[in-house]
Amino acid sequence: FLNNSDQVAQWVSDYIVWKINYFKPTKINPFILGLPTGNTPIKTYKKLIKIHQNGQVSFKHVIIFTMDEYLGLSREDQRSYCKFIHNTFADHIDILKENVNFLNGNAEDLHLECERYEKKIKSYGSVHLFVGGVGKDGHLAFNEPGSSFSSRTRIKNLSKDTRISNAQFFNNNIDCVPKLALTIGLATLLESQEILIIATGQDKAIAVQAAIEGNINHMWPISCLQLHQKSILVCDDSSSIEL
Ligand code: GLP
Repeated sequence: FLNNSDQVAQWVSDYIVWKINYFKPTKINPFILGLPTGNTPIKTYKKLIKIHQNGQVSFKHVIIFTMDEYLGLSREDQRSYCKFIHNTFADHIDILKENVNFLNGNAEDLHLECERYEKKIKSYGSVHLFVGGVGKDGHLAFNEPGSSFSSRTRIKNLSKDTRISNAQFFNNNIDCVPKLALTIGLATLLESQEILIIATGQDKAIAVQAAIEGNINHMWPISCLQLHQKSILVCDDSSSIEL
C-alpha cells in the first residue's frame, strides 16, 4: 500500500526494472513481460521510459505480450490497444518491434488468432511477470464478471459498465465503443510466474476489497489472484479505503 498514484508508479516501475535486471535476459533467454492498457499504467510507463533513458534498463531482450484488444479496430487506429502500447511505451524504448506481441482484433479468423496468441506465449514457456490493471467491477484484461477461471484467450462480450468506462477513449460516446474484444483468459494469466495488478483511485476500492477480503468468486475476476502463489496487488490510499 502506497500513498498515491505517483508512488505506485515509482514502485511498480522500479519492481519491473529490478525483475528484468535480476533475470539478466539474453537473446536466447529473454524476459517475458505481460503489460496492460488503460489509464492506470500510463504513469508507470512514463517512469519506465525515464529509467531506460538513464541507462538503468534495456528492453532489447524483453518480449512483451499485451492483454487484450477491441474487435474491429485496425492496428493503426489510435484507439486500438496496439497503438496505445506503442504510443505510451514501446516506441520510446529499445525493444525490437517484432518483440511486441498483441492480439489482432481485425484478424480474419478470430478463433485462430486467439489460438495463435496462446501458442506464442507457450512457445516461451510462460510469462515471467504479467502486469495488469483492474476494472471497477473487478475485471482483468477483458475478463468480465462471470468469466471462468479456466478461460483461455478468446472473444468476449463487453459489459455495459466496461463500455461506459472506456467511452472516454471514443469521444465519450458509448455507441462508438466496440461490443466485442479479444482477451487473454484468466487461466492464461494465472499461468504466469508472477502477477502484479495496479489499482489506483477510489473507483477501484470495491474491486480491491473483493480481491483481498472477498471469496474466490467468478463474479469478481480479480479474486482469482487468491489462487496464485505469487501475485501482488499494488494500491494507493484511495483504492484501499474499503479495506
Ligand atoms: C479496460 C482494459 C483493462 C484495464 C481496465 C481499467 O477495460 N481492458 O485491461 O485494466 O480498462 O482501466 P483504467 O486503468 O483506465 O481504469
